[in-house]
Amino acid sequence: MCGIVGYVGSRRVVPILLEGLRRLEYRGYDSAGLVYQFDNQLVRYRAKGKLANLEAVVDEHVGVASGVGLGHTRWATHGAPTENNAHPHTDCTGELVVVHNGIIENYSSLKNELTAKGHVFTSETDTEVLAHLIEDCLQGDLVAAVRAALARVEGSYAIGVLWAKEPELLVAARNHSPLVMGVASDACYIASDIPALLPYTREVIFLDDCEMAVLRKGTYSILKVDDGCPLEKTISVIDWNASMAEKAGYRHFMLKEIFEQPQAILNTVSGRIVPDTGVVDLPEIGLDPAAVNNIERIALVACGTSWHAALIAKYWIEKWVGIPVEVDIASEFRYRRLLVNERVLTIAISQSGETADTLAGIRRAAQLGSKVVTVCNVVGSTMTREADGIIYTHAGPEIGVASTKAFTCQLAALFLLTLYLGQVRKTIDPVTQRKLGAALIDVAGVIETELPRLQAEVKTLIERYYESKDFLFVGRGLNYPIALEGALKLKEISYIHAEGYAAGELKHGPIALIDRDMPVVALAPRDSVYLKVVSNVEEIKARQGRLVLIGTSGDEHLSTLTEDVLYLPEVCEDLNPLLYTIPAQLIAYEIANRRGCDVDQPRNLAKSVTVE
Ligand code: G6P
Repeated sequence: MCGIVGYVGSRRVVPILLEGLRRLEYRGYDSAGLVYQFDNQLVRYRAKGKLANLEAVVDEHVGVASGVGLGHTRWATHGAPTENNAHPHTDCTGELVVVHNGIIENYSSLKNELTAKGHVFTSETDTEVLAHLIEDCLQGDLVAAVRAALARVEGSYAIGVLWAKEPELLVAARNHSPLVMGVASDACYIASDIPALLPYTREVIFLDDCEMAVLRKGTYSILKVDDGCPLEKTISVIDWNASMAEKAGYRHFMLKEIFEQPQAILNTVSGRIVPDTGVVDLPEIGLDPAAVNNIERIALVACGTSWHAALIAKYWIEKWVGIPVEVDIASEFRYRRLLVNERVLTIAISQSGETADTLAGIRRAAQLGSKVVTVCNVVGSTMTREADGIIYTHAGPEIGVASTKAFTCQLAALFLLTLYLGQVRKTIDPVTQRKLGAALIDVAGVIETELPRLQAEVKTLIERYYESKDFLFVGRGLNYPIALEGALKLKEISYIHAEGYAAGELKHGPIALIDRDMPVVALAPRDSVYLKVVSNVEEIKARQGRLVLIGTSGDEHLSTLTEDVLYLPEVCEDLNPLLYTIPAQLIAYEIANRRGCDVDQPRNLAKSVTVE
């Protein structure tokens, strides 16, 4: 939520900042701004709305910029998305600027105090308080002033600060909001996320909470915010490249990411299943066999699409391993009385590894003695650094705000986890385990084969539905979470009201909504609950509901119920969620596209939710 980028080097800074912001725009697009040092002054540009508006303003000035600057793309928390509230924010003199991602929780009392001292505020943001607070502490040493100011701040922040009087210096700091430094032979960078750095360097340093980076031309240092002591940090090398975060000819990142799923699933499974034996190896999980055997309960914690992956994992783990599993939305988990202890394994599922509620949830669980494992896509993210163990999904950078490939890779990783737990606790026999492992690899191939046909069929089908105002998605068992996910995808990117229901719950309320204006997408594979789902579908049909059915190839009965059937090949029943989520993603994508919506940057949303 909000993206910040900074550069200290000798190249023209404005193109670097704009490219960085373009790659971080998924984090927020309410406004954008940048600032650079030039001729002992700070030159600042801001614009309401998307980055293109900022680009239109700064374009003619690109040639004159020096090699030190900051940029920001905003997801509004405090203050409307206006130009005036856009970052960077300045102090009273206009000589000091701040960009910020996070929330300054005690901004109101600080603002009153600073106003009483004569500071004049010009925005409604919490961030502006930081600029004035640093100004108030400034006595010739910017690093000392930033440290003194941060000592008074409560809340979350990743910040970048420039001062006109120190034209070759950039000061950055973080607490509970992500910040990564990029290191190249001729320059240093800061960014909220790795994709902004990929065109320039793959060598990065992840800042931890309460750490600050001091970037000067040709040198950098990392300090502790509280006592200013220098820290030795290791440089990590990222194996993503810049082109992975490009559209590669697709109209939208979301479509590209839908089509990347077969390879991404294979990358996630690769090297983790021993070919002949089917033995699963998860070396980074951080649990020895004794620890696995000691687990009494598993708590799965996540938000959004990742929470849907958790719901599916509950079915798998309880079925194959027999350990009771609780699934929580992280924003609920973090604030309720947690009955978690050292016999409970907490698993956080997160694409970004930075979601504020999930992070807070695992911190609470860890305090209560629980071991924490994270299923995460972003190498070096905060969750991966705080957890006891990691299962990386290898989806590659996911840029579309609506998650697709990260979700199917989470499912693949969680299925591997299920097999691993079953292997250690001997609840799955080796033959079954080998079959299940092979089935997981096969499903990637099936998705690859079916995707082009499915996309074409969905494109035709949605012509009859794209103007609907409401949708229901229903499924049972493993496909109930896919119904939730299908509805979430549709509302996220097309702004159509959509609800997901367990098909058996229909008659407890939602069936009252059924009429010709309420299309129902029913997931009806030939699985162990097939007949039950078909009964629910009959009930919808009997009430003149319009049906889109997604089922198993060769199931002629479905086409007697509606003309709109999407058929999928039969795969191992456990793995249906990976396959059945594909048409749901495509329905959302094609409807949003047909309605002319901004698929990759839907209104009001941000991909990485780093505030609560
Ligand atoms: C946001 C994104 C969703 C994502 C959720 C959790 O809402 O728009 O796509 O599922 O955050 O994010 P995480 O990075 O923790 O998976």
